Amino acid sequence: MLRLVRLYAPRGLRLARAEGQYVWSSDGRRFLDLHNAYGVAFLGHRNPVVMRRLREQMDRMMVASPIFDTDVMEEAVKMLSKVIPRRLGYFFMLNGGSEAVEMALKVAKKTTGREKFISFINGFHGRSMGALSVTWNPKYRSGFGPFPWKVEFIPYNNLEAVEKAVDEDTAGVILEPVQGEGGLTPATPEFLKAVREACDKTGALMIVDEVQSGFGRTGRLWAHEVGGVEPDIMTVGKSIGGGFPVSVVAFREDVGGRIKEGDHGSTFGANPMALAAVSGGVEALTNDNVVEKAAERGGKLGKILREIVEEHPRMARAVKGVGLMTGIELRFNPTPALKLLQQEGIIALKAGLTVLRFLPPYLISDEDLSHLRESLNKVFSKLAGSG
Ligand SMILES: Cc1ncc(COP(=O)(O)O)c(C=O)c1O
Repeated sequence: MLRLVRLYAPRGLRLARAEGQYVWSSDGRRFLDLHNAYGVAFLGHRNPVVMRRLREQMDRMMVASPIFDTDVMEEAVKMLSKVIPRRLGYFFMLNGGSEAVEMALKVAKKTTGREKFISFINGFHGRSMGALSVTWNPKYRSGFGPFPWKVEFIPYNNLEAVEKAVDEDTAGVILEPVQGEGGLTPATPEFLKAVREACDKTGALMIVDEVQSGFGRTGRLWAHEVGGVEPDIMTVGKSIGGGFPVSVVAFREDVGGRIKEGDHGSTFGANPMALAAVSGGVEALTNDNVVEKAAERGGKLGKILREIVEEHPRMARAVKGVGLMTGIELRFNPTPALKLLQQEGIIALKAGLTVLRFLPPYLISDEDLSHLRESLNKVFSKLAGSG
């Protein structure tokens, strides 16, 4: 019998459908979706604007190479121009976050002619070979070396380490403005500024990986805006296509202008369905003031989580993250808490070894937040009783 390779521990739940901030199991139970397919459905499951764009495109043409001009490409360029930082004058589209990181690193290597990348302890950028080379977790790296180029991992949010490590041999410095997988640690504005300065001084490229943090989730359009700096390369994925598998990599004008035919390619990259999905994602984001709403919802969520942490000091250490990319650092492995939360009708995920992570859609309501508060209370009381 053919079996799926189990790369992830199963949750024991058979999902049948999804709408907005909820998913339903095949036996009809409704769950508040704070797992969000690893943060993809931030705009809500089956966002109507994205669905309309995808349907219209499906009726016209599903595949075409970007060597041909198309209306859907022209529209995607117009829509993306509304959200991509102005300094980034070129973009390409790929199919997932790792692929975007892969292209970012290749372009940095080739355009600078340098060998070395700087990445950060607890950083996560994906698991294809280039992306894995700048991903820190030894659990993911072990057995896969040697990696394609020299990478130095330095402490995150450490200005001195940045100043010391970034030099004339550095092709790029890659960072998440909020470390997602590694434990929901936000970059300080000073750290982002220090990276920008070190890159300006040495000619290294600042690569900001917004695959998880970007597109409104933290209550800013791009999480790196908190530092008041602009990157040379930015990678975006997860939520930008409203659920359709697509990623975007954007380049500073003079970097993008130096990419030549043959430097990269992808059969499905910038296909019409992905282009329509991204246009739909941007339309949905801008039409419904998603960034402002995420900031307001994130504020309420943060307040509730802080109260919970105060009420359960034996279980919880601190609130982590920003906006709707947030969670609770526990004093133990989050798996038992995740299981109990699922029994309460809420699905969520882990970050690092001890963080219970929530990646809610911006649609999360006051009622959903009360449900989360009550459920966390129950779960921690139960765990305290059993421990
Ligand atoms: C910051 C960051 N970069 C890259 C990736 C890899 O993206 P994908 O799984 O779509 O390849 C992820 C995935 O979680 C991520 O969080």
